[in-house]
Amino acid sequence: MEKKKYYITTPIYYPSANFHIGHCYTTVIADAITRFKKMNGYDTFFLTGSDEHGQKIEKKANEAGVTPKEYVDEIIENAKDLWKSLDVEYDRFIRTTDEDHIKTVQKIFKKLYEQGDIYKGEYKGLYCTPCESFWTETQLIDGKCPDCGREVTEVSEEAYFFKLSKYQERLEKYIEEHPEFIQPVSRKNEMINNFIKPGLEDLCVSRTSFTWGIPVTFDEKHIVYVWIDALSNYISALGYLSDDESKFKKYWPADLHIVGKEIVRFHTIIWPIMLMALELPLPHQVFGHGWLVINGGKISKSLGNYRDPREYIAEYGVDAIRYYLLREVPFGSDGQFSEELLLSRYNADLANTLGNLVNRTLSMLTKYFDGTIEKSNITTEFDEDLIKIVTGTKEKVQDYMEKLEISEALDSIFEIFRRCNKYIDETTPWILAKEGNFDKLKNVLYNLLESIRIGAILLSPYLPSTSKEILRQINTKEINYEGTDKFGLLENNIHINDYKPIFMRIDSKNESK
Ligand code: MSP
Repeated sequence: MEKKKYYITTPIYYPSANFHIGHCYTTVIADAITRFKKMNGYDTFFLTGSDEHGQKIEKKANEAGVTPKEYVDEIIENAKDLWKSLDVEYDRFIRTTDEDHIKTVQKIFKKLYEQGDIYKGEYKGLYCTPCESFWTETQLIDGKCPDCGREVTEVSEEAYFFKLSKYQERLEKYIEEHPEFIQPVSRKNEMINNFIKPGLEDLCVSRTSFTWGIPVTFDEKHIVYVWIDALSNYISALGYLSDDESKFKKYWPADLHIVGKEIVRFHTIIWPIMLMALELPLPHQVFGHGWLVINGGKISKSLGNYRDPREYIAEYGVDAIRYYLLREVPFGSDGQFSEELLLSRYNADLANTLGNLVNRTLSMLTKYFDGTIEKSNITTEFDEDLIKIVTGTKEKVQDYMEKLEISEALDSIFEIFRRCNKYIDETTPWILAKEGNFDKLKNVLYNLLESIRIGAILLSPYLPSTSKEILRQINTKEINYEGTDKFGLLENNIHINDYKPIFMRIDSKNESK
């Protein structure tokens, strides 16, 4: 049977040498979802990339005395390096300066022009350069950009416009009839009430006042508005309107666009209207997540609260960071980031609950049975409850992931490890050893390792290297996801590998003073 496909995207990031932990948020989540879907048998395609055109970049390049292309080329490796250090495995890293993307955007623009959805006019209005957004007088807050609060400038130029107004009713109807399209539901209401119902104005989609962008093929002094350029990446990356549309045919429509809450508007108004005009199906879902904040506010280098995420990775390990990003904040809400919170999550969950459990169990097996796992028939009264929790987790995780409740999914896997720790307290293996009750002890240690094995497999989308290391230490070949709702697949008579604690407790900086 042909595999079901799953196409997932992150936003394409503005090229920056100053990525912070907030930028890692979407990408790590998208990576975990992709790995989870892959584990469930889907043929996945995970797209990320960089959004390299626009006046902001042109300005920065001028200041640096280089061409915009030289400027972006130099810093783009920074993003790729960051994703690599976070164990993010994407299928394509698209750059909006890629030749194939440029060609597709030009074809899209021409097609929309030829069919009358894009027309030429005169633009007079207010533009926020940092946000690359046009605003009307009434949308401003205290005369400033409603998104970032900075000054807007008045511009007047010949420009092309995209007929958003023509599609307003169709879009509103679509959103109402497809409640899963904009998630969480609060963001859907915001879009309908604040943006669509008040009326959509036609959108200015070309600029002539700067040159760093994709030229309009039939009117070369114009360049394509960055958001038309950027949003097109989701289909250009698959070869839409190219000589080879096979990926596009296979993967489009996207199953999930994950975006930060401030760019939901572009993804649920401009993007679906572009697709409607191109007569293409709409993505299944746009999920607008919250922001990571520090002390309730923005993360930014200028505020001095910024550290390169790679510094945290060097200090705590990649999975400590992945765990924090995936576990700490319910997906959809804003959430705090601080090193104290990172450390307390690390110590409580990774070092105490998981690390300690694995280490204690392997140490006992070494001490009492020279490291050989053996089954026995002498059960304890606590086995049934342990087995029930362990074998029920696969389905629970699936249910949570279906709803994109990632933090809850991860927590339910940790429920296995918490239950194992309780099982150790209940069965007191050291007393069984002292009493010479070795058959019962074999069974207890087997059950613990079997539970850890299942938990480690389920963990693999979230903490891939930890999962791998636990399974290596156990030395099991039973690493398939399919059997994780069955208890007892762990091989009899295998000898564990060398092992060391996977997460050591770290004293907090305050405590160690
Ligand atoms: N280039 C546009 C996206 C175009 S998509 C067709 C853009 N780039 S960005 O670099 O500014 O932001 C990329 C993503 O990072 C956004 O989804 C944004 O919400 C996210 N984040 C930036 N700071 C963040 C936090 N502090 N917390 C969580 N996400 C954050 O927008």
